[in-house]
Amino acid sequence: MVSANCIAHPVMPASRYEQLVQSVVDYAIYMLDPSGRVVSWNAGAERIKGYRAEEVIGHHFSLFFTPEDCADGRPGRLLHQALEQGVAQDEGWRVRKDGTRFWALAALDVIRDEQGEIIGLAKVTRDITDRRESALQLDAVRAQLFQAQKLEALGQLTGGLAHDFNNLLTIIISSARMALGSPDPARVQRMLQHILDAGQRGTELTQQLLSFARHRQLDVSLIAPSSLLTATRGLLEHALPRDITLLERMQPGLPLIEVDAGQLQMVLLNLLFNARDAIAECGTIRLAVDAVELAGEVEGLHGTYVCFEVQDSGEGIDPQVLPRIFEPFFTTKAFGQGTGLGLSQVYGFAKQSNGAISVDSTLGQGTCMRLYLPAYQPEAGIPFDG
Ligand SMILES: Nc1ncnc2c1ncn2[C@@H]1O[C@H](COP(=O)(O)OP(=O)(O)OP(=O)(O)O)[C@@H](O)[C@H]1O
Ligand SMILES: [Mg+2]
Repeated sequence: MVSANCIAHPVMPASRYEQLVQSVVDYAIYMLDPSGRVVSWNAGAERIKGYRAEEVIGHHFSLFFTPEDCADGRPGRLLHQALEQGVAQDEGWRVRKDGTRFWALAALDVIRDEQGEIIGLAKVTRDITDRRESALQLDAVRAQLFQAQKLEALGQLTGGLAHDFNNLLTIIISSARMALGSPDPARVQRMLQHILDAGQRGTELTQQLLSFARHRQLDVSLIAPSSLLTATRGLLEHALPRDITLLERMQPGLPLIEVDAGQLQMVLLNLLFNARDAIAECGTIRLAVDAVELAGEVEGLHGTYVCFEVQDSGEGIDPQVLPRIFEPFFTTKAFGQGTGLGLSQVYGFAKQSNGAISVDSTLGQGTCMRLYLPAYQPEAGIPFDG
């Protein structure tokens, strides 16, 4: 944020200030009287807002705000805040002379005379429309990437699911045959029960898959780590080969976390698929969830975090490769088997959620990935999970 305090600096003569302020074209720098009327105007202000000095001097600075903001009293509030506290900062839409809008970052600082009396305010405004648009575009690309990855994961999951559906259909068909051929009513009852169970299990599988695949906007909400784990386990059971054992451990009474549940599920699947891929034939994946107190040891984080730990007994990561694993498109997998986007997505999610991801790996022994997400801290008391 730009500060305009330099305007009251005593060592430079006024004309030099005038020259300095006038030569700045990237910032609109102008003065207001204590009632909010424009008293000076620089070249940057003319460039950014489109008005010449004689067109705005004497006008109230609410001229640059949108009608909605004016109706809401925003200019008055800013002025009041600056006069009360010495400074006010704002970010929002402003209107140019030609009616077009730009996204502004603005600072309003009071100027006092030698006796400490307020003689006016210095207003510094910057047009950051481009910066805002790039940030929005980045968010949109991120969302697309997540969707693409989701489809990829869905492909991997459906392979396992097709196998499971086949098993369920086998149960249904053979039970129906036996029921048809059996004279024993009790046995027929039992067979019908098998058919019902298998059918219900199939419905559950489809439900889980559909809720995972549904495209949603980023939807941050308070979630219990346990419920998320249950849903993920349901999906995963069918994607791991039989020779890989999945062991789970969850600390009871975990705090809630405030994240997008779909994205977190995707992130966990990424870590679990990486663990699966690192295991050549048979091995173990341990998934543990704990609440931890951090005091700066993980990327300078402090406070209570929920740590999702995915540990595998796979091939481990070569120390030479380790610094690169979070880079987008970095993969050691064969062409067509990995995009190299999994971990960059995990990293982006951790950062976006004010958390962190850490890795510990020993070549030939296995890898442990830890995802730290901040525990939800309400004003009064922390709600706990289960
Ligand atoms: N648990 C792990 N064990 C060993 N190596 C790993 C593990 N997790 C990640 N890696 C290494 O990090 C690389 C990058 O992982 P990342 O998930 O970003 O991409 P990928 O798995 O190669 O591709 P994709 O995620 O698209 O399938 C992997 O290619 C692999 O070399
Ligand atoms: Mg991966």
